[in-house]
Order: sequence, then structure tokens, then C-alpha cells
Amino acid sequence: MSVTSLRSASRASAPKVTTQSIFEKKQRHEPITCLTAYDYASARLVDEAGVDMVLVGDSLAMVILGYENTLPVTMQEMLHHTAAVRRGTERALVIADMPYASYHVSKRDALRNATRFVKEAGAEAVKIEGGAKRVPLIARLIDAEMPVMGHIGLTPQSLHVMGGYKVQGKTLAAVEQLMKDAVALDRAGVFSIVLEGIPREVAAMITAEVEAPTIGIGAGPECDGQVLVFHDIMGLTFAPPAKFVRQYADLGAAIGQAIAAFKADVETRQYPSDAESYHLPKETKTALDTLLARRHVR
Ligand code: KIV
Repeated sequence: MSVTSLRSASRASAPKVTTQSIFEKKQRHEPITCLTAYDYASARLVDEAGVDMVLVGDSLAMVILGYENTLPVTMQEMLHHTAAVRRGTERALVIADMPYASYHVSKRDALRNATRFVKEAGAEAVKIEGGAKRVPLIARLIDAEMPVMGHIGLTPQSLHVMGGYKVQGKTLAAVEQLMKDAVALDRAGVFSIVLEGIPREVAAMITAEVEAPTIGIGAGPECDGQVLVFHDIMGLTFAPPAKFVRQYADLGAAIGQAIAAFKADVETRQYPSDAESYHLPKETKTALDTLLARRHVR
């Protein structure tokens, strides 16, 4: 059995991750894992590795589509990538990130957009940014049978209000506000809360206070789980990583070397070789040789 088929077999036998099983992990004090993925291949790799949750983050605006921030990515683009991730995922919980303006204009739009993620792209939950002010919307989404992941702290869709990507929750007033937001989301029934870019002490307090599992990114080790961006841990970004990123591979360098080797092989006629070429069937080759020989005689 190949490594790939072994991985697929273990994926098939592992139990499906649900919002309930994520909640139970917190109760058992077992760390929860989450990575972003944006296409079939990355989703399959993340799923086969046994990561609990796959987040189709709106970070795809930057790491996949090359935008400067997350604001321009559209519903259509997010749906397209979520559907690909769904096709690559069997076991992990698939969460779609609602993009900027898909839930900020009206509750009716928000509900319609969230249901599209479930109906058209196969998402099992949606994520929205923001604290207490999102409670009425969360109630509507849950009422429409959609599990919701909250997201507070450094919320990239509030980039212009925050005045840049800055660590949040540094003053006493800001800590109090974060705690209020976390409790409000928890009471509203979110199945988990992303805590991004906040001091570890604040994340630890929130984690101890709320029932929903907290999933940290730049929020220290006391969170119930951790999420990172796939391209950051694989070394596939073109900017220096943030302080909290641990890079586990340098795929950027590996891919660069592979591309250079392909280019050199083509330019020196070392690719493709005879073994990498298709050949005529024997009878066709014989008939062709005879035909060419006759033409040559004339
Ligand atoms: O868009 C994203 O990737 C995210 C996470 C990193 C939390 O929101």
C-alpha cells in the first residue's frame, strides 16, 4: 500500500469532526487544530493529516488572489474556493469565512450569503468577525441552522478602523471590551471563537471564562486550539512572517528549485526523454515505415 492510499484509508476510518466534537475536545482539554485551505489539494492534505477544522479564510484574498488586504474578495470568489475545499475534505469540519460586506449591509443579505455557503459550496459552518454587535445576526444564522464561529481581537476586515494590523487588547478598557465581546458571542451560541492578535494573558482569561472553544492566532498557548494560515506555515508567502507564525516548511524555495530544474532541462533538451514519450503501436510503426520506404523509392 502506498503512503497516499494509507493516508486515504486512515482518513476514511476516522470519525467526522462536528461542532459537537469540537466542543467536547474543549471539555476534555484536548488541543483543537485548525488550518486554512483554499483549494482541493491543500484541503486534502490538511484533512488527511487529521487536522480538526479547515477554514476557507478570506485571507485567500491576499495569499491566493494577490490583493493587498482581505477587503476586496467577493462572495463569488469565496464560494468558488469553498466548493473546492469541500471536495477535498471528508473528515474535518469545513468553515467558510464570510467576506467583507457580505454581512455588513443588511441581515437579509447576510442570511442569504451564509446559506449560499452551505447550499452551493457545502460549508458546515460560517465565520464572522466582530463582537457583541454581531449577536442579533448570530441569532438569525443559528435560527437558520447554521453553526457560527466568532472572531474577535485583531479583525482584518476592520483594518481601516483599527488603523493597521495592530495587536488589540492592550489597555484595561480594551481588555474589558474584549471580555464583554467574547461573553456576548458565547451566550449567542457560537460553536467557537477565533482570538486573533491579543496578549496571551487576555486570551487565557477569555478561554477560562467562555464555554465555546477559543481558537488562537497570535493569542498565545492558553487558547483551546490554534489556527494558522496554510501559506504561512509552508513558506509560500512573499513577506516576512508575523511574530506568531511558525514556518514548518520552505515550499517556496522547493518550488523555485523545481521550476528552475524544469526550465534547464527543456533548454538543454534533457526533457522529455524517450521514456517520457508515447510511441506508435508496433503494427502502425511497421506500416508507416513501409509507406515511407515506398515513397522514398519513387
Ligand atoms: O482569513 C483567515 O485566514 C482567518 C484566520 C487566520 C483566522 O480569518
